[in-house]
Amino acid sequence: MGTILEARNLTRRYRLGKDNYVDALRGASLSIGAGEFVAIMGPSGSGKSTLMHILGCLDRPDSGEVYLRGERVEGLRGRALDEVRRNGVGFVFQGFNLVPTMTAIENVAIAAEYAGHSRRAAQSKARRMLATVGLSDRANHTPSELSGGQQQRVAIARALVNDPLIVLGDEPTGDLDTATSEEIIATMRRICAETKTTFVMVTHDPEVGAACDRVIEVRDGLVLNGERAVDPQAVPTAPRIAIKTPVLV
Ligand SMILES: Nc1ncnc2c1ncn2[C@@H]1O[C@H](COP(=O)(O)OP(=O)(O)O)[C@@H](O)[C@H]1O
Ligand SMILES: [Mg+2]
Repeated sequence: MGTILEARNLTRRYRLGKDNYVDALRGASLSIGAGEFVAIMGPSGSGKSTLMHILGCLDRPDSGEVYLRGERVEGLRGRALDEVRRNGVGFVFQGFNLVPTMTAIENVAIAAEYAGHSRRAAQSKARRMLATVGLSDRANHTPSELSGGQQQRVAIARALVNDPLIVLGDEPTGDLDTATSEEIIATMRRICAETKTTFVMVTHDPEVGAACDRVIEVRDGLVLNGERAVDPQAVPTAPRIAIKTPVLV
């Protein structure tokens, strides 16, 4: 399993006026393998959201690097940045962030249209994604006609519609009750297994953490255990080349 997302020594300082600042990240590093399902946990104010925004290219670090599938992305601008935001990463937020006046299918399709698909192709992709999250029968409902769990399923479909390398979630189950939260996590796990999409989610919920492959802990702007265990397949071993005995004729 190769590394899909890597952060090296990220720092981010928020300035709050002339002599006042907060160091939200103080040298955070982590490494995520392709297809992993990972939780990020830590106290409120420890820098989790700041980290997620930088990993997803929604914000830039003051220093440090982010590599998405080996390519440096933290300094991208213009078209290259749009490309990563549209096709590289999908986001799922705590508050769902759906457009209230659009139906479920329109909320998903618009993300595909932004990525350059025709309206028709976008609709068909959106329909498929809604089926994947189990919402085919709610395609024409607006968010206010859907439960919280259903709204989050729409948001997951939207995050996945452009086949991103990685889905980032900032407390995606934070507004859901325990049973619904379990369903949402189970849905994401199934999609992770079926599509090999990588999921990285900030959560406060220890049960969500327990349902993940790995929990990365953030404290005070630092990642405590961001490095993954070395993949045995990635360790270089002596080449297994069969040495042919010369045939003497
Ligand atoms: N836009 C901002 N302006 C100023 N300070 C901020 C801003 N966003 C976050 N912070 C501060 O940075 C620190 C980390 O915040 P955040 O990344 O939101 O942590 P978490 O998501 O773990 O609660 C906190 O002290 C917070 O108050
Ligand atoms: Mg946060």
